[in-house]
Amino acid sequence: MSEKLIAPSILAADFGNLERDVEMVNQSDADWFHIDIMDGVFVPNISFGMPVLKAITKHATKTIDVHLMIVDPDRYIKTFAALGSDVLTVHYEACTHLHRTLQAIKAEGMKAGVALNPHTNVSLLEDTINDIDLVLIMSVNPGFGGQSFIENTYHRVAQLKALIEEKGAKTLIEIDGGVTDKNAKALVDAGADVLVAGSFVFRSDAQTETIKELREIANS
Ligand code: DX5
Ligand code: ZN
Repeated sequence: MSEKLIAPSILAADFGNLERDVEMVNQSDADWFHIDIMDGVFVPNISFGMPVLKAITKHATKTIDVHLMIVDPDRYIKTFAALGSDVLTVHYEACTHLHRTLQAIKAEGMKAGVALNPHTNVSLLEDTINDIDLVLIMSVNPGFGGQSFIENTYHRVAQLKALIEEKGAKTLIEIDGGVTDKNAKALVDAGADVLVAGSFVFRSDAQTETIKELREIANS
């Protein structure tokens, strides 16, 4: 079995000390940087945009996993490629022509991800799963860090895992929202490959150690 990955969410970092926090992730056992881009339209919050992402990628030495919570993401695919995104995830609910969007992301040399809100049934990906490199299952409603994990997520992950196996796809499953040491193992057991963790990592007094422990739990 392949290694399970940990992706600290920079949304929970200290923006007054961004370089320090990016360096902490660089030096830790984390695998990816998870970057949340919100537009205040698709979600009821605005996070940060291109200049901040540029500041992050200047120092980051690991995979840049960008989660777009924006309407009409097609407008910005080339921009996020130029900024150094390795994985670009769009929301299913924000894409009228998802298949076209996925091809456009791959044409820019990035891995193509699709995020599902908690209400969006995973079966809606039946016809595109073989074109998707990563499915991000929202385990909270998108827009804010620090929310409580939705328990129905386990069921959704298992459903998605079954779909991926049935279709012979190579899609990774990423979980985003309310991930802690308490639910990490059960998520992996249900089929998760990548765990995003914001508050759990950055609110810890020993961030590097917390990342290490979370990664150990996920791979135990
Ligand atoms: C929420 C974001 C998440 C968020 C997770 O809309 O997509 O990536 O940063 O934060 P925690 O781990 O605090 O729930
Ligand atoms: Zn996210």
